[in-house]
Amino acid sequence: METILETIDPVNPEADVVRRAAEFIKNGELVAFPTETVYGLGADALRPEASEKIYAAKGRPSDNPLIVHIAQIEDLYRIADPVPEEALLLAKRFWPGPLTMILHKKECVPKQTTGGLETVAIRFPSHPVARELIRQSGCLIAAPSANTSGRPSPTCAEHVYRDLNGRIAMILDGGEVGLGLESTIVDLSVDRPAVLRPGFITAEMLEEVLGAVETGQPLAEEKQDPQDSTEVCRQGRDVDVMDQAPKAPGMKYTHYAPKAPMTLVQGEQEAVTRTIRRLTAESMKKGERIGILCSDETADSYTEGVVKSIGSRYADDEIAHNLYRVLREFDEEDLTAIYSETFDTTGIGWAIMNRMLKAAGHRILPGEKE
Ligand code: TXA
Ligand code: MG
Repeated sequence: METILETIDPVNPEADVVRRAAEFIKNGELVAFPTETVYGLGADALRPEASEKIYAAKGRPSDNPLIVHIAQIEDLYRIADPVPEEALLLAKRFWPGPLTMILHKKECVPKQTTGGLETVAIRFPSHPVARELIRQSGCLIAAPSANTSGRPSPTCAEHVYRDLNGRIAMILDGGEVGLGLESTIVDLSVDRPAVLRPGFITAEMLEEVLGAVETGQPLAEEKQDPQDSTEVCRQGRDVDVMDQAPKAPGMKYTHYAPKAPMTLVQGEQEAVTRTIRRLTAESMKKGERIGILCSDETADSYTEGVVKSIGSRYADDEIAHNLYRVLREFDEEDLTAIYSETFDTTGIGWAIMNRMLKAAGHRILPGEKE
């Protein structure tokens, strides 16, 4: 299949370009499009054979459910029943925006879209291209992140092209996304609302609307090496228990891991840079090729290895924005190992560290005291 790559104005999307893309969606084809979080791979959510094409194009396991994207709050009633009061309160506060809610599904939502579950994930994105595409197609659009299964989520059209060229009908290139990490997922189909995936809408923000929310249960079986993962990030929320929520089926699959194994080093800044320098020097002496993931504040501490900063420690939005791009860049280098600094877990730092821990397979070392 020839994939059409078309640029589109991310602020005022050209009507004729949206119309072409909307035609593909109406015909049950796949279109990748920008959202405010990451690029999505869209298809008509209410057509089972359209959803099946998404799984085939991504190489995604068919029991890993998709998020249904809507363009008006009332569309909740088309696909969810009941629509609890909490869902409306959250919708009014955070939609359109980077929040996904899990609700009980209506009959019209095919099992192919929900991976066999009786619940459905729903999001109203704020990106003008996403909204116009949904509106013009007249469909609700099922869209996972537009990467091949096992790769980082795409934050620009080039990432999508590299992963999916030849497998989908069209890519709308609206430039780099704004946020760079996937939406927060909150489960409202259970007695106590639970965050299944942290994101820009933080647990604290949800709690302002809902009162207490669950932030995940430790699931022992996901911890490969308990010694490595127990000391993780005590500054803020306990991120090591966060990405193992029992109800998001996506969490049970091996997540993206860089080609070279990544190890996180945590602790006081001095101890971290010293430890990474030592590990790098030792590895390079053995002929290894090392990548170092650091921050603007620490980049000058490293004199060997492929050093990449993901931004300033004082700008967590910058770090979130750059993380997936930098991980993809490391995959272009022929590395044998990556050592990475860790980041504060307050606010969106919780989402950042959640993704980094997964990429590192929960390998984490304490920075050494002198
Ligand atoms: O920001 C985002 O959410 C992006 C953009 C494109 O909107 N989408 C995205 O989709 O990240 P995806 O498929 O990469 O991640 C969806 C996650 C998966 O972990 C999946 O298991 C979970 O949502 N999920 C979907 N439906 C669910 C359900 N009914 N119950 C529990 N988890 C669900
Ligand atoms: Mg994904």
